[in-house]
Amino acid sequence: MQSKKVCIVGASGKLGKYMVQHALDRGYEVVGVCRERSVGKLDTFKGRITIIPGATNDREVIKKAVAGCDGVLTVLVPWGAHHYSSGTAQAVLDHARPGARLIFSCGWHITRDGKDVYPESLKKQEKLARWLGRLTRIVDIDDQVEACRRVFVSDTRWTVVRGSDLEEGESQGLPVWSRHVGDPILESNMTRRVDYALFMVEALENDELIHAAPAIVGGRTPSALAYAAAVGPGHDR
Ligand SMILES: NC(=O)c1ccc[n+]([C@@H]2O[C@H](COP(=O)([O-])OP(=O)(O)OC[C@H]3O[C@@H](n4cnc5c(N)ncnc54)[C@H](OP(=O)(O)O)[C@@H]3O)[C@@H](O)[C@H]2O)c1
Repeated sequence: MQSKKVCIVGASGKLGKYMVQHALDRGYEVVGVCRERSVGKLDTFKGRITIIPGATNDREVIKKAVAGCDGVLTVLVPWGAHHYSSGTAQAVLDHARPGARLIFSCGWHITRDGKDVYPESLKKQEKLARWLGRLTRIVDIDDQVEACRRVFVSDTRWTVVRGSDLEEGESQGLPVWSRHVGDPILESNMTRRVDYALFMVEALENDELIHAAPAIVGGRTPSALAYAAAVGPGHDR
């Protein structure tokens, strides 16, 4: 049987490289998109993946990269003052083949329905990032918000995975998730980056996550374990 083909947009970053590894482990044929200057960061995968160099918001680059792909994993980053994030999302939405599974990454700060309840620390962090962004024009949080808004209203088979704070370290297995920040299961607000990538790749085959914006947290964190102990094994949310 022919293996399924997935495109990873933003493959050279920390999250991207973990996703490449998980995708290869699962037998997917992998196409990666990254900036020309970052191609060397993917040397460990030489000969095992196809790399399309270019800006992720370049529509021609994305069109070429997602051709024939069954799934697209997109790292949405709020960099720059030129609508990088929304340009990237739009290019993927427009050029992925109809029916393809589209998985996007972002942080807890993105809300789908306005029902998230944010800790004070996170509100302050976001306020600071917005202020710094306006000052330096290095970060544009509002453009990442716009990118997700476009995904939410699209008629594609999308999932937006909202990451908690991240840390490096050995895998602790698949994160757990909830629909709203503020739910007790998420309280620990920490996920291993390698496991965030695992959740993104596993979402390709999880139809329960279509048209959902799961907020995730590490499965071995205190809040996840406390929730599991209270409701019994096998339950998220
Ligand atoms: N960091 C966190 O604590 C955190 C928390 C929650 C959610 N998230 C989400 O997790 C995802 C990954 O974030 P991450 O922080 O872990 O970063 P990351 O995986 O290292 O990814 C950063 C990406 O941004 C690209 N990039 C860097 N500077 C750029 C620029 N000036 N212009 C265009 N692209 C640029 C990188 O490409 P190159 O390889 O070419 O540099 C890379 O693809 C994001 O969707 C983020 O919203 C992160």
